[in-house]
Amino acid sequence: MAYNLLKGKRGIIFGALDEKSIAWKVALQAKEEGAEFVLSNAPLAMRMGEINKLAEICNAQVIPADATSVEDLEKLFTQAQEILGGKIDFVLHSIGMSPNIRKGKAYGELNYEWFQRTLDVSALSFHKVMAVAEKLDAMNEWGSIVALSYIAAQRVFPDYTDMAQAKAMLESIARSYGYRMAKQKKVRVNTISQSPTKTTAGTGVGGFDVFYEYSDKMSPLGNAPAEACADYCITLFSDLTRYVTMQNLLHDGGFSSMGISEDVVNLMMANQQ
Ligand code: NAI
Repeated sequence: MAYNLLKGKRGIIFGALDEKSIAWKVALQAKEEGAEFVLSNAPLAMRMGEINKLAEICNAQVIPADATSVEDLEKLFTQAQEILGGKIDFVLHSIGMSPNIRKGKAYGELNYEWFQRTLDVSALSFHKVMAVAEKLDAMNEWGSIVALSYIAAQRVFPDYTDMAQAKAMLESIARSYGYRMAKQKKVRVNTISQSPTKTTAGTGVGGFDVFYEYSDKMSPLGNAPAEACADYCITLFSDLTRYVTMQNLLHDGGFSSMGISEDVVNLMMANQQ
């Protein structure tokens, strides 16, 4: 059901790779809520061509940008304002990638060049997006910027390796830049810490199926699906959350408040029998 929550708002949505992507669901819902936006992804990801399907459904233009390239981001923000006819009201940063995870490196054997790439793609890109928006004065007052995080920023999930540091940095950037954006333009900046979700980035993490199940059994409401994450993003882009900023908002079905659940106890007991 649509509420017209984003009527008249203009946005940039990064990170829709295929229909499983969280950004894909956000785009569909943003459209339903009346927003106009451009879609962006890394030039390499575009080759798969899936994003064009989404663009057609949403009547949106696609602008390629490597989110680690300030030059690409400058072009993107400039073109997005031209296409949409004004400054930007909301930005979704839904970008993550670790070469170390892709290559299955254990935490003690990380390749440091790849580690830096992980940080650049998954965390520094968020700083670059906001620095470019600031430099070009591209955000409207009371705008909203959201990035997606994971609880491995605070707790140990061994297979998440260097992405844990990337997410910690991402959340820290949201606080530091959130201060600056609030002071300059009354723009809010938050991260949403989402449950494990079956997407390309998610399922690339070693042992994903097991920790997906574990997390589901630990969360009293179960893992939050991608569609529900999109709902939450929409509320943060809407005018109903104008004073929420510099927060890491847990969207995890209750996982982060749990010690142990009866479901997990029952599972362990069944294994002992
Ligand atoms: P996804 O694989 O669909 O999306 C990741 C996106 O990052 C892709 O569209 C990819 O093309 C893009 N990307 C990679 N390098 C890029 C670059 N240099 N420039 C621009 N874009 C680039 O997977 P998903 O799960 O939708 O990921 C979105 C965000 O949600 C990520 O930040 C991820 O860490 C986060 N997240 C995912 C969870 C999960 O279990 N799937 C849980 C919590 C957070």
